[in-house]
Amino acid sequence: MAWISLTLDIPAQWVEPISDWLSAAGALAVTARDAGDQPIFEPDPDQQPLWPQVRVEALLPDDADAAEIARALGDWCRRQGVIALAPELVALPEQDWSSTWRAGLEPRCFNRRLWVIARDVPAPADDAAVLRLDPGLAFGTGNHATTALCLAWLAEADLAGKSVVDYGCGSGILGIAALLLGAAHTVCVDHDPQALIATTDNATFNGIAPSRLTVCAPAALPRVRAGYDVVLANILANPLITLAPRLTSLLRPGGWLVLSGVLEPQWRDVEAAYPAVRFAPPAVRDGWVAAAGRYEDAH
Ligand SMILES: C[S@@+](CC[C@H](N)C(=O)[O-])C[C@H]1O[C@@H](n2cnc3c(N)ncnc32)[C@H](O)[C@@H]1O
Repeated sequence: MAWISLTLDIPAQWVEPISDWLSAAGALAVTARDAGDQPIFEPDPDQQPLWPQVRVEALLPDDADAAEIARALGDWCRRQGVIALAPELVALPEQDWSSTWRAGLEPRCFNRRLWVIARDVPAPADDAAVLRLDPGLAFGTGNHATTALCLAWLAEADLAGKSVVDYGCGSGILGIAALLLGAAHTVCVDHDPQALIATTDNATFNGIAPSRLTVCAPAALPRVRAGYDVVLANILANPLITLAPRLTSLLRPGGWLVLSGVLEPQWRDVEAAYPAVRFAPPAVRDGWVAAAGRYEDAH
């Protein structure tokens, strides 16, 4: 499918109202990023980007009247007093979005125990488990620092017979990796239906028995039992803070919580939202933080 991209540079406090405006005007996705190219996808209403000047990009369907939307947005900005140049429009050629990611996916090995490779490349000849991946439209190829940090943790953990929750599963990469590394059962959760489809598809492709995997939307989780050995959540700082009681309640006493998707300056606030978890010093890569800690029941 072809798209039209509309971009606009604005002060950070206008990200939320302008994202809402663009969604109401028919945008299929809205992304905010700084000049340094660190994206925040679909910013939540309570989520404030860190950067003072933000580039907002909206994807419009190719049959939208993009010129009229850009003009109306420019008028709206002027009326609200938003200091911004006119929105820029670029037609994006049709391409196979679900396979473009593969161009950047190099086979990667974690702790000599786990390979993550594209589906159509030969498996390396060693004893490591192999996760063959196609993320579809969901996030999670293992190339992003936040995912790689979680995979590195999983590849060092003793997961034999463990129960795992992958909250915000995207492609299912973390939950399926846990199963390939010996976990008994994984629950993969995401609020994006594309992620649930991609996860199920990747699990099937990797030969995961259906009895070892539950794939569900967050609303279905209360019906699933709590007391998990490991809960992984590679989301973003604000959702992790909001979800803190939920994620903590899923753990058994002594269970591991692994959080990722947090920029370095945000870590203290995230850590403070989990008073019952004793975190080890976090790992940092490319400015992103991932931390693992044990849930202590005493709180
Ligand atoms: C950064 S991606 C991580 C994907 C994958 N787990 C990985 O590590 O690469 C975050 C995922 O969390 C999902 N997500 C964000 N907020 C969520 C929420 N409140 N509840 C459930 N899923 C959420 C998004 O749809 C997205 O698939």
